Amino acid sequence: MPKGEMYHSLQPPNEPTSLIGTLDMAKHAEKRKSWSQGFTPAALKEYDPIIQGRTNQLVQRLEQQVGTIDLGKWISYFTFDFMADIANEALRLFPAVPTFICRSPKVGGGPVLVAGRVVPEGTNILLPFWALQRDARYFSMPDKFWPERWIERTFHNEKTDGSNPTFIHNQAAFCAFSQGSQQCSGKALAYREMRVVVTMILKKFDIAFEEGYNPQDWEAGLRDDTVIVKDKLPLIAV
Ligand code: HEM
Repeated sequence: MPKGEMYHSLQPPNEPTSLIGTLDMAKHAEKRKSWSQGFTPAALKEYDPIIQGRTNQLVQRLEQQVGTIDLGKWISYFTFDFMADIANEALRLFPAVPTFICRSPKVGGGPVLVAGRVVPEGTNILLPFWALQRDARYFSMPDKFWPERWIERTFHNEKTDGSNPTFIHNQAAFCAFSQGSQQCSGKALAYREMRVVVTMILKKFDIAFEEGYNPQDWEAGLRDDTVIVKDKLPLIAV
């Protein structure tokens, strides 16, 4: 299904249309070709020395810091949150894009049926990944940080039909990088970076929360703000 018009808000004015802002499926597929080529396993191999170099730089800078380090801030200079099963689990509980994904049945293509509901053409459908990834219908113990579920699923053959009530894991509901032909094109690079950086940091440093900090507070303090763009307000003194 094509992206919805909400992606126009990600498009800076007077600039060529970005990949993410290209709603027409054919144009999108055309534009995406060069991205896909840039992220093939062969192409990504060439990134490894760059990632390694940047990680060394990060580790050196961290070593120079005195006192408590805001590791989250430093890691955010890379393009990810965390690694393989741990990364998946972190991204399941805390998707970097929690709500702002939009798809829209093509205008002129007629209504489409989504999960048993008729959606008229041109309707913007927002996909709340945060809620989806914490839904007990798709993941056992959905609010629990349980990286082993990603290994466990291979033993249970990813049964999603309810025939195994003791373990539920629906891979289709894992959308941290979105799904389908318009999903994140940097996904493979992101996983690669996560592996190198997290491994190196954990090898080099002992990490703990600042004394008195309650990690539960972090989730309570998260905000998902949509951006409002203001038009001119022609107010004059008369
Ligand atoms: C953990 C890291 C990352 C996460 C969680 C993430 C997540 C996402 C998500 C959810 C989308 C939206 C897809 C949609 O509209 O359905 C997206 C799109 C995109 N991402 Fe990422 N991303 C990550 C890292 C990267 C990196 C490292 C790059 C490139 C260097 C990248 C490049 C892109 C591009 C180009 C798109 C637009 C794809 C398209 O419209 O075809 N991302 N990403």
